Amino acid sequence: MKPSRINVNEISNSSYKKVILEELEKNGAVWIRSAFNGTIEDFERCSTSVISDLTFYQGGSSLREELTKKTYTASYYPPFMTLPVHHELAYTSNMPRLIAFGCVKKATHGGQTPIADGIALLNDLPKELVTKIKDKGLLYIRKLNAEDNEYFRGWKSTFGTDNKEEVLKLSEEGGNTSRWIGDVLEVTHHRSGIISHPDSGQDSWISQITAYHPSVIEYVFRKTPQEYLAAAGINASTTPEMQSDCRFGDGTPLTKEDIYAIWEAYDKHTYICDLSEGDFLLLDNLWVGHGRLPFKGDRLVTVSMGNY
Ligand SMILES: [Fe+2]
Repeated sequence: MKPSRINVNEISNSSYKKVILEELEKNGAVWIRSAFNGTIEDFERCSTSVISDLTFYQGGSSLREELTKKTYTASYYPPFMTLPVHHELAYTSNMPRLIAFGCVKKATHGGQTPIADGIALLNDLPKELVTKIKDKGLLYIRKLNAEDNEYFRGWKSTFGTDNKEEVLKLSEEGGNTSRWIGDVLEVTHHRSGIISHPDSGQDSWISQITAYHPSVIEYVFRKTPQEYLAAAGINASTTPEMQSDCRFGDGTPLTKEDIYAIWEAYDKHTYICDLSEGDFLLLDNLWVGHGRLPFKGDRLVTVSMGNY
């Protein structure tokens, strides 16, 4: 897939939202060059002009900072890591319809934003696997420590409280099954994985298997250039222990063939967006997934999410 590209100078203020949303409906992704002046405030002007109902990043697992109300940094995973393409908050019941990215500071090397078309990708998955996921759904299992670490958010910052009863209540209100294992919170989310897209009615793949399945470690090693891993001192003995899993909805594991077919379909349908400072990328999160390539140097990409 390729995103629609728009030159912001050719859009009048009054038709700005209309033009962008029309392109989004056609393509699922709109890349607007030089849409804002490179400041966080101006990014927020852009995001609020197309996303009517901005939402909080609630219950999400990524480490990120809230810069202004409902404008966040992209996730703070270590720069050496390739972040696999995923659909934002696909494991929650409050998945946003839209997600917008703004490039405030471009990395010296790398840091591009890969995106992938969930409708096209689904057509390339083995039919048996698709049927199984449609029938059973997906089960995401997360284990949250109390505090954040370099890779994972802890339950205190995920739910914004250190009161364990309150945490359990908030988690269950989100439609999850939750339990305490000592000081670790285990959260289990049962989600669909494939939906009928609200506009086109076509089946669309929306999932975070790529981020939650233990094979992500193998994938990250395979996709990340050796120079990035070496610079960060990363090797097989220093990788973190996975604290999550993704299975079929009945709890049975995906086979190696299943997960390799999914990785292959992602690779086939990924398009790399190399955003420049001031560029704005809007995605239909029920259609198009996003990720991040590893980078060097300072990088600041801002994120807002929400609904029409
Ligand atoms: Fe994300």
